Amino acid sequence: MDPQAAASLFSVAGKVVLITGGSSGIGRMMAETFVSAGARVYITARDRVRLDSACAELGRLGEIHALPGDLATPEGLEAVVEGFKGRESRLHALVNNAGLTWGSALEKFPARAFDSVIAVNLRVPFELVQKLLPELQAAATAEDPARVINIGSVYGFSSQVMNAYSYAASKAGIHQLTRVLAAELAPRGILVNAIAPGLFPSRMTAFALKDEARHARLLAGIPLGRAGDTADAGGLALFLSSRASAYITGAVIPLDGGLLARA
Ligand SMILES: NC(=O)c1ccc[n+]([C@@H]2O[C@H](COP(=O)([O-])OP(=O)(O)OC[C@H]3O[C@@H](n4cnc5c(N)ncnc54)[C@H](OP(=O)(O)O)[C@@H]3O)[C@@H](O)[C@H]2O)c1
Repeated sequence: MDPQAAASLFSVAGKVVLITGGSSGIGRMMAETFVSAGARVYITARDRVRLDSACAELGRLGEIHALPGDLATPEGLEAVVEGFKGRESRLHALVNNAGLTWGSALEKFPARAFDSVIAVNLRVPFELVQKLLPELQAAATAEDPARVINIGSVYGFSSQVMNAYSYAASKAGIHQLTRVLAAELAPRGILVNAIAPGLFPSRMTAFALKDEARHARLLAGIPLGRAGDTADAGGLALFLSSRASAYITGAVIPLDGGLLARA
């Protein structure tokens, strides 16, 4: 392989990337990495202020656009999809990252909370793939397929879920949906993989990390002894969007500092 081809194996420069929930936490870490690597990035979220502020900050590094909308509602989903289609005809990588969790005692767990977690974490990624298939197919080439990257969780594997029943079920579901879609979409030039993060600082994990004793306990359970960071989340997302991973589909890759290896 000539050195230029080797250097471009991990490149995403010029690619179009859509990251749901890109305004905070893991989605924002990935957005920062893609923008810095020269991709044209679109991020979505409900809170307009946080979304615009992420765009303003990351806009200093490269090209990034906001697509506001509540993905849990048909109108919000449509606004995001139509907003994207109005600007782009090709989508090289769709990162289904937006997610939420809910925890409460088994006897008190509300059906509505169960449904809302399943909707955002599992149904929305499926619907986005459905609605954005033409743009994904338009971006795919024989040499470098289009990508769907679903964000699962170590809780899709582990039963130590601290009353987050619907969250664990949604994450196991997205892992399996990844495999099902990977098999179906390979002939159309679209690769589908999932990342299963362990512990990353975010709004979702802030409640656990702000308690010092609990924070220390969580870190003690991770063989590498630390939470994940921007380079960890962004690095794997870049790899899964680049030529270097063109022969990988249907994989669910733990990004957890060894957490599952110890479980
Ligand atoms: N952090 C971890 O340790 C960890 C571990 C395993 C898996 N994960 C997964 O990683 C993903 C990102 O989570 P995070 O920890 O980074 O949490 P976060 O900081 O709370 O970020 C969640 C993002 O999703 C957006 N979002 C939530 N509901 C939405 C909706 N209905 N419509 C549109 N956007 C919505 C949020 O923006 P708005 O609130 O403004 O809508 C935000 O941008 C999730 O799928 C989560 O399950 C995280």
